[in-house]
Amino acid sequence: MASTAALNLLTDHPALYEARFPAPDRLAARWTEDCLRRHRAGARVLDIGCGTGRDAARLHAVGRRVTGADLSEAMLAHARAHHPGPVYVHADLRGFDLGRGEFDAVVCLDSSLLYCHTNAQLDAFLSSCRQALAPGGLLVAEMRNGAYFLGRTDLLDAPAVDTFTWQGSVYRSTTTLTVDRTAQLLRRTRVWTVDDGPEPVEQRSVWRLLFPQELRHLLGAHGFDVLELHDGPGPRTEPPWREGLLPGATADADRLHVVARLSPAR
Ligand SMILES: C[S@@+](CC[C@H](N)C(=O)[O-])C[C@H]1O[C@@H](n2cnc3c(N)ncnc32)[C@H](O)[C@@H]1O
Repeated sequence: MASTAALNLLTDHPALYEARFPAPDRLAARWTEDCLRRHRAGARVLDIGCGTGRDAARLHAVGRRVTGADLSEAMLAHARAHHPGPVYVHADLRGFDLGRGEFDAVVCLDSSLLYCHTNAQLDAFLSSCRQALAPGGLLVAEMRNGAYFLGRTDLLDAPAVDTFTWQGSVYRSTTTLTVDRTAQLLRRTRVWTVDDGPEPVEQRSVWRLLFPQELRHLLGAHGFDVLELHDGPGPRTEPPWREGLLPGATADADRLHVVARLSPAR
């Protein structure tokens, strides 16, 4: 029987996280910078749910003044040590106060926004973004698309097994996804075994399943105009985004990308 670990194997082990999800060409940061440039965002960027700081540091390297924020102290410590440049702060995206009008853009990548599970948490996130942004500021987010699960069960039908090697140890994960339709949540159970490890580690994660029109409605209700809302190309689509590609017009595939502007009048 697998035990439930108090720590998150990946987000509390940032080096392992980077090994599991290598991003050598910083595609997510490059896609973000493309969005920021196309919509003429100012220099001050908040990367909320910044993780190991890789994207924040890349945005810093191209001239942005970046603050990276995350809930995980382990992630923040790793980011400060390995991806210097941005200022890194502890914050909970389900309600944060990092000043009023301090940022020209808030970016929230790789489904971090979906850690807002309830409508109240989504409202708190968007209210916090609204407070943090200067009038006319941008919100750029990239996440799983809840609408993908309408009529499709391919991700739910059977556990997915994956293996990777890190520092000489072989890590195997068996991942099971289930949908809680009432709460609109995607629940993931992942059991890890490490070849020289003592016992399996079971970890559970939960994401909100947000639908494109629901997101559009929430953004509008919080004073944002939606500039782009589409399923790709993006940093985690297949084929992935590359320089020069413009946003699509559909929201059918498994990733959702949104760029929204806070109303210039507050
Ligand atoms: C999938 S990782 C994405 C990290 C980074 N944005 C990237 O694209 O590599 C999700 C991150 O969200 C953070 N996170 C989870 N819940 C959060 C919360 N309530 N507030 C802030 N960060 C949170 C985790 O610690 C983790 O670093």
